[in-house]
Amino acid sequence: MCGIVGYLGKNESKNILLDGLSELEYRGYDSAGIAVLQDKNFSIYKAVGKLQNLKDKTKDFTSEGFSVGIGHTRWATHGKPTELNAHPHLGENSYVVHNGIIENYQELKKELQDAGVAFLSQTDTEVIVHLFEHNLKTASSAFDAFEKTISTLEGAYATLLVTKGEEETIFFAKQGSPMILGTGKNGDKYFGSSDAPLIGFASEAIYLSDGDYGVVNNEGIKLYNDKKEKSLSFSKLSENRLSAQKDGFRFFMEKEIYEQSDVMSDTLMGRVQDEGINFDEIDPSLFEGINEIKLCACGTSYHSALTASYLFERYAKVRTSVEVASEFRYKEPLLLKDTLFIVISQSGETADTLETLKMAKKAGLKTLTICNVDNSSMVRLSNASILTRAGIEKGVASTKAFATQVAVLWMLSLYTAKLRNSISQEEITKQLHTLREIPKVLKVDDEQHERIKRLSKRYLHGHGFFFIGRDVFFPLALEGALKLKEISYLHAEGYPSGEMKHGPIALADPELFTIALMPTELLYEKTKSNVEELSARDSTICAISSKKFDKSDDDIFITPSDHYMLEFFEMMVALQILSLEISVRLGNDVDMPRNLAKSVTVE
Ligand code: F6R
Repeated sequence: MCGIVGYLGKNESKNILLDGLSELEYRGYDSAGIAVLQDKNFSIYKAVGKLQNLKDKTKDFTSEGFSVGIGHTRWATHGKPTELNAHPHLGENSYVVHNGIIENYQELKKELQDAGVAFLSQTDTEVIVHLFEHNLKTASSAFDAFEKTISTLEGAYATLLVTKGEEETIFFAKQGSPMILGTGKNGDKYFGSSDAPLIGFASEAIYLSDGDYGVVNNEGIKLYNDKKEKSLSFSKLSENRLSAQKDGFRFFMEKEIYEQSDVMSDTLMGRVQDEGINFDEIDPSLFEGINEIKLCACGTSYHSALTASYLFERYAKVRTSVEVASEFRYKEPLLLKDTLFIVISQSGETADTLETLKMAKKAGLKTLTICNVDNSSMVRLSNASILTRAGIEKGVASTKAFATQVAVLWMLSLYTAKLRNSISQEEITKQLHTLREIPKVLKVDDEQHERIKRLSKRYLHGHGFFFIGRDVFFPLALEGALKLKEISYLHAEGYPSGEMKHGPIALADPELFTIALMPTELLYEKTKSNVEELSARDSTICAISSKKFDKSDDDIFITPSDHYMLEFFEMMVALQILSLEISVRLGNDVDMPRNLAKSVTVE
């Protein structure tokens, strides 16, 4: 989803802005632009498509000496991905970039048009800059005009504005969408939609809160909320950019698949102890008076929520329900105070999930966020949070975030089970041992990767894929299908194995590919008969199992194991690699698939 960067200082702003935008590419975008204000002149560049197009356009432009600059990657919401609709948007003497949606833009646009203002784009964003210039005519200062503009906007926005007449200034505001303001050692100022563009430049940063707005210039930072000046609270930023590079892999997604073993060790560290699970960040009182757990999320995170629902009921014996956040928002849900409301999100910024968290808080429920990004909106809003510790995930198709979410939720189910005395210490000890084995099963075996790569050439066509499994292997099947859809653009569905004969089996023929998840440690025989039914109808079967299935056309063998969750994680890796290799063969952009955004900050 749209990304914002900003810079004020004496370094070459073009490079800092373009570098920052590259760091935000993972959020997804279809056009990009920058505006640099120097010596009372604006230089403005926009390009549709990849950032390289913008880089090509700006190759002869330099901005040595003091300047202010703003930049943006746009993921189209209002209006097509064209240069005219790309940010920054121009008024007469000012430029603006914006992430979010201005919900009352049509009324505002009409009022401005009635007052004679001409609009160039189809975007909601353009109203911000025109409204600012309209207000400037009567305001006592540019800051007053900006403050008045912000107070008129409804919806979500993270926005930066630069204007002639205040050449050494950037105005900023944040409501709903993320924005971070950093300062460098020499007093330079940086803005970013996440901290990724700031790392290596800024040493400390303010994670802006909803309702924050203000102004930065050479003299410093003025921060306001609700018309009152706020004190500045800085957090130290990491200086290590290396973790965000590809490390010799072809794609970030591939690097992130290979990283899963290491990041999983971090996820487990200090949490899997000899007697049980320890979460320093939560207090057992969070579970006092709780009779139900509600898990809410979107996309891949929803799949880890579904996986967790099996584990919570099985081990903690607590009633557990799972909700798709975009549905939950509007279903007028029953929110009872004895429910613990858990949101799961890689980014912590997904608009729908964030909204459900606000609803639960408002209804007085205890809330917990499972998230990969510290200081994200969800982490800041909920009563408690557990970080997944997966590190920055850049591939749009989520891999290591999913793996670490499932591990955290599995640990949480055992933590809850112990509090509720619902499983024996012997069983807990056994599972602690199994948890410690996850990093081992996540290690990608080069030969296995090569085998899946070879096999992938047989799965580039057909009229669809069914990924099937039972129990926790059903959400894993959903996740396998989502991965394939996202990066190969082939049609794939996930189904519970036992559901096939209730309709979907009608599609079975040799061009219908079934990816069958067949763990030996959980319901093997049941799953096997479902797969046999498909094989009998000539569906092409690729079985993922540690056991040879005699009716399969292809096999992906995993290591025999004594616990179904270890089979789960090893199958997950196989599914990720299968999608990756199919996508590569089809010539797709693995890391930035068409139409997708990494962080979905609009509903
Ligand atoms: C799929 C994927 C998405 C996200 C979804 C929620 O690979 O990444 O389905 O899982 O957009 O995002 P988060 O987890 O950031 O809330």
